[in-house]
Amino acid sequence: MYRLLIRPILFKFDPEKVHYFTFSLIRILHKIPFVGLIINFYYEINSPKLERNVFGLTFKNPVGLAAGFDKDAKLYQELSNFGFGFIEIGTITPKPQDGNPKKRLFRLQEDSAIINRMGFNNGGVEDAIIRLKKNKGVLIGGNIGKNKSTPNEEAVNDYVICFEALFDYVDYFVVNVSSPNTPNLRELQEKEPLTKLLQVLQNLNSKKQTPKPILLKIAPDLTNEQLLDIIEIVNETKIAGVIATNTTISRDGLVSDNKAEMGGLSGKPLSNRSTEVIRFLSQKSNKSFPIIGVGGVHSAKDALEKLNAGASLVQLYTGFIYQGPKLIKDINNALLNKS
Ligand code: FNR
Repeated sequence: MYRLLIRPILFKFDPEKVHYFTFSLIRILHKIPFVGLIINFYYEINSPKLERNVFGLTFKNPVGLAAGFDKDAKLYQELSNFGFGFIEIGTITPKPQDGNPKKRLFRLQEDSAIINRMGFNNGGVEDAIIRLKKNKGVLIGGNIGKNKSTPNEEAVNDYVICFEALFDYVDYFVVNVSSPNTPNLRELQEKEPLTKLLQVLQNLNSKKQTPKPILLKIAPDLTNEQLLDIIEIVNETKIAGVIATNTTISRDGLVSDNKAEMGGLSGKPLSNRSTEVIRFLSQKSNKSFPIIGVGGVHSAKDALEKLNAGASLVQLYTGFIYQGPKLIKDINNALLNKS
């Protein structure tokens, strides 16, 4: 129904407007008695066979919503009814910021892809916490970043502010240094600043009564040498794992007219590269840490490929837009049929 009926209508309008429209629609629908339950009944597959224990957390199934969709933690409760095993909010920064000027989100329909240069538009960490306090049992990842106005030399402070503020309200953390849309952010992926950043966070983490898993989200554009550095850094700082990958700056193989828009590319064209990164990290590290696989999952087959390449969990964003919520159910069904 989504692909035949809903998507053709939604895709006639501006992508960012559609995003907020569907947000409002999902929220309003959930205000009608039993609608949340009905959606949940239709989409969620409950089976102990889908459960995954990864970095000390129990996921009811391995399919999550990737960061950027519910940046401000406004809709995670309702979105979880579509059958997601976990939801990553953010990227959140310490202070609210508008992000880049519009238009900044583009559909590349012929490529089943999206280019975005949102630039961490979000309401700031304190604002998100107001809503996270109301969480009724959704497993939440907190994806954290730095404000655009914060120079890289002071970036650690921004991550620390978000880490401390969110600590009681998320289940795991993601350190995002891989968005192409905040100037110079990806320089923090270099060995020295990255080791320092993760060490500072791990130090704070170790002082907590119950430390929380900290993951690193990386770009698909890193070279093999840089990926080997990442493995070293993960092992040295003993963080819980890696999310591979964020959006790419590559434009290889695209056919859509608007392929030259600036920003990060997500969706189908990213799928192979992201799986390659997962496989490389998994093999070269001898599976020494868990990986969350994300990038171009548009079918159950795509998800299985990432899991087979070494991912313990997968996440979706662009596939959710193109395929609709049934994709989550399809993946979970495929996993059940396999087991
Ligand atoms: C993203 N993504 C993202 N990632 C992140 O760590 N922080 C963020 O704020 C955002 N924001 C964001 C906005 C938009 C519009 C898109 C399309 C994507 C990246 C996302 O989480 C994911 O890593 C990539 O999109 C690749 O997965 P898909 O979309 O191909 O499934």
